[in-house]
Amino acid sequence: MLAIIPKPEKLTILPGELHLANPITISGDGEAKQVLVQFASSLEQFFALKPTSQEAQVLLEIREDMQEEVGCEGYLLDISSEKVTIRAAQPAGLFYGMQTLRQLLAPEIQVSGYSLPCLSIRDKPRFKWRGFMLDEARHFFGIQTVKRVLDWLAYFKINTFHWHLTDYQGWRVEIAKYNLLTEVGGRRAGSQTRSFSKQFRGMDLTPHAGWYSQDEIREIVAYAAQRYITIVPELDLPGHFSAALAAYPHLGCTKEEMEVRMEWGIFNDVACVGSQETREFLYDVLDEFSNLFPGPYIHLGGDEVRTDHWRDCPECQRVKGENGLKTISGLNSLIMNDLGSFLQGKGKTPVVWNEALSPSLDKRTVIMHWTPVPFSLLKTKRALQDGYQVVFQTFWESYFDYAHSFIPLKNVHRAKSLDQVPRGAWDNVLGVQGALWTEFVADEARLQWNVFPRLAAKAEVGWSQSGDRSYVDFKDRWGGLRSNIESLGLANPAPLEASDPSSYRRSLALLHDVIVDMQAEQHRWNLVKSK
Ligand code: ACM
Ligand code: ZN
Repeated sequence: MLAIIPKPEKLTILPGELHLANPITISGDGEAKQVLVQFASSLEQFFALKPTSQEAQVLLEIREDMQEEVGCEGYLLDISSEKVTIRAAQPAGLFYGMQTLRQLLAPEIQVSGYSLPCLSIRDKPRFKWRGFMLDEARHFFGIQTVKRVLDWLAYFKINTFHWHLTDYQGWRVEIAKYNLLTEVGGRRAGSQTRSFSKQFRGMDLTPHAGWYSQDEIREIVAYAAQRYITIVPELDLPGHFSAALAAYPHLGCTKEEMEVRMEWGIFNDVACVGSQETREFLYDVLDEFSNLFPGPYIHLGGDEVRTDHWRDCPECQRVKGENGLKTISGLNSLIMNDLGSFLQGKGKTPVVWNEALSPSLDKRTVIMHWTPVPFSLLKTKRALQDGYQVVFQTFWESYFDYAHSFIPLKNVHRAKSLDQVPRGAWDNVLGVQGALWTEFVADEARLQWNVFPRLAAKAEVGWSQSGDRSYVDFKDRWGGLRSNIESLGLANPAPLEASDPSSYRRSLALLHDVIVDMQAEQHRWNLVKSK
C-alpha cells in the first residue's frame, strides 16, 4: 500500500519500477516552469531543476485540454520505468501532483536515490474549500511557525488558511490608521492557565504580546500564494471585541476603559452597532484588510454575541427601532449585512459564523458552521436549501483544541455532519475545515500535537470522495508517512488513538460554557420565531 494522504481518486499500480537519482532532476515549460520555481525553495532537498526536458527524470506539463477531466486543482501522475510525468490543466494541479510525488519519496533513502513503483494516478479534490483555522489572538506564534503551518497545509493539499487575528485577548494585525489596535490591543498582562470553570481559573502574570506588521502580512500572503493557499483573515466582531475596545473604548456601548482580557470565556464586550463612528472605524479596518489580503473572502465573525450592552444602549436601541428589528440580537445580522455589502463593494465575499444566520442575512454571505448543538445544524441545513454557501467546521469533528480523546481522529475522518447535507444542496457546500483555538496551546510543539494527525484526516475529508475513505486504511497511510512528515519539521504529532484523560475533563468544562451560550441562542431564536 502506498502512503498518500489525502487518498487519490484513482491509483493503478503497474509492473516495474523507476529508479530516481539524487537529487532528482525535474523540468517543465511555460507555466509549469513557474510551478517548479515556486517549488524549488520548499523542495530543494529532493529536486534539482533542469533547463531542458530531455535531461530530466520528472516532467511537468500544463495541458489546458484536461480541464474537464481534472478541473482546476486535479492532476495525472504517471510513473514509468523511465520517468515521472505530471500533467494538469492548471498550475495548482501540477503543484498537487508534486505533493503526491513528494509523499512517495521517503527521505531516509535520499543518498542512494529513490525507487518508485510504476503507477498511474488520476486525482482531483471533492471540495473547493479545504481549510485550517489558526487562532493567533489567544496565543501569538509568529512568522516562522505560520510558514511551517503553511508548508504542512500544502503537503496535505489544503488550500485555505483561515487566520483568526482579533479577539477578546489580542489584536494581531497592524492597522495603519489605528496604531493603538496593536500597541494597546496587541498586549495583555497575563494568561489564564486552567480550565474555563470560573472557580479554577489560575492566572500566569507573564505578559503576552505580538502582532504582524503589514510588511510581515504581505510576506506571509506571498508565501501562502506560492503554495496555492488563500488566506481568509478574520476580524471577529461585534462580540469578541475587547482588544479593540481596550485600544479605543469609545467604539463600545459603555465607552468604559478596559483591559485586553487575560481570561478565557465569553464576555459582554461588544462593538456599538448603533454608533456611526464605530461603523466608520470598521469600514476603515476592512479597507486595510481588503488591501492586505488579496483573496476573495474576509471573515467578519458574528459568533457568541452577548446583547446586554446593546439592550442598555440608546444608540443601539434607536438603530433597532429604525430598522424594525424584532429583537436586539437582530443587530448582529444588521452589522454583518452592512459590513458585508461594504466588502462586496470591494469585490470581497463576507464569511460569518453560523450564529449570525437569520432570515434577513444577505444570501451572498458564506456561512461557517461550527456549533455543537443539533438545533443549529438544522438551521444550517435550511440555509443550504435556501441557497447560502456553507463551510463546515463542525465542533465534534473539527475542534483540535479539545482533547484527542474528546474529539477523536475517527470522528474527524468520519465527518458525520456532512450527512445532514440535503440532496440537491451539495453545490452549496463550499467545503470543510479544521480549527485550532489556542487558549491552552502556547507553543508550537503543543500546536503540532493538537493538530496532527487530525488535520490530515480533515484534509482527506476535503479532498477524497466519501465512498473512497476508509479509516483503517487512513491510519496505515499516516503510519507510512511518519518519517516523511518529520522532514517538514512536523516532529510532534499525537500518536494514533491518543488518549489524554486530564484534557478530557478540561474539554468537558470548556464545552459546558459553550453549551450554556448555545442555549441562550436557541432561546433568542425561539423569541424571533414566536413574534
Ligand atoms: C467559535 O468557536 N466561537 C467560532
Ligand atoms: Zn451601542
